[in-house]
Amino acid sequence: MVSVQNLHKTYRGALEPSLSGLSFSFPQGRIAGLLGPNGAGKTTTISILCGLVKADSGDVRLFDLHQDAHHREAIKKLIGIVPQQIALFPQLSAWENLVYFGNLYGLKGKPLYASIATYLQRFGLESAGKKEVYKFSGGMKRRTNIIAALLHNPKLLILDEPTAGVDVQSRNMILQFLKEYNRQQGVSILYTSHLLEEAQSLCDEVAIIDQGRLVLQGQPSQLVQQHPECRNLEEVFLHHTGLAVRD
Ligand SMILES: Nc1ncnc2c1ncn2[C@@H]1O[C@H](COP(=O)(O)OP(=O)(O)OP(=O)(O)O)[C@@H](O)[C@H]1O
Ligand SMILES: [Mg+2]
Repeated sequence: MVSVQNLHKTYRGALEPSLSGLSFSFPQGRIAGLLGPNGAGKTTTISILCGLVKADSGDVRLFDLHQDAHHREAIKKLIGIVPQQIALFPQLSAWENLVYFGNLYGLKGKPLYASIATYLQRFGLESAGKKEVYKFSGGMKRRTNIIAALLHNPKLLILDEPTAGVDVQSRNMILQFLKEYNRQQGVSILYTSHLLEEAQSLCDEVAIIDQGRLVLQGQPSQLVQQHPECRNLEEVFLHHTGLAVRD
């Protein structure tokens, strides 16, 4: 579903590169995790995948389409993006926000309203739909942000730290939804996190990146098995990325 080859990116004015020859690929239909410490390059990679940031060099493909000007519109229809920072209009209600995002994808009228109502209910927000988003808790905002990425029925859902800053109940609901969405609708999922326990239980495959490079890729259980000294994915992660704080 996603293939990244030898990606390089240095932001304008930055002293260090953010990506230094990053390569990884994930097959279709899986829940894939892009894992790494703060500043590893997760958001930069996702922004390049979505066509929001331009790489200096390297090759990016989604569903065998090159991410370039020629395929940008086709790729936009295939993917749903949940950004790391909440991207909603605080003065609008959840319903108004979702109508706006649906319209951006060319959706309107009854089918759009039916879809919004279904998802608000699925995410426990049916009674909050008419409330302005600035009155929402962090978890409610995050769940609304996820719905905004689902309305056009993407084939690949990309989520950048979807469980950051939410409580246990919201987190559970989000993770449960992602599993069901993948298994029942066959939608591929690419998610980033630095919560290794969560990634181990959610992901079929993970790529661990650090300082803009791939460190390790594989199925969580296999990666743990390959490291007899490590009891879980978090220990494998620390084994390869070290104990130094990154910020
Ligand atoms: N717009 C920008 N301009 C300059 N440097 C940037 C920019 N965005 C990110 N960086 C730098 O690029 C590197 C990778 O950042 P990125 O946000 O991709 O990491 P991340 O893995 O998503 O981190 P986090 O877990 O904190 O979200 C960091 O060193 C960061 O400071
Ligand atoms: Mg990030």
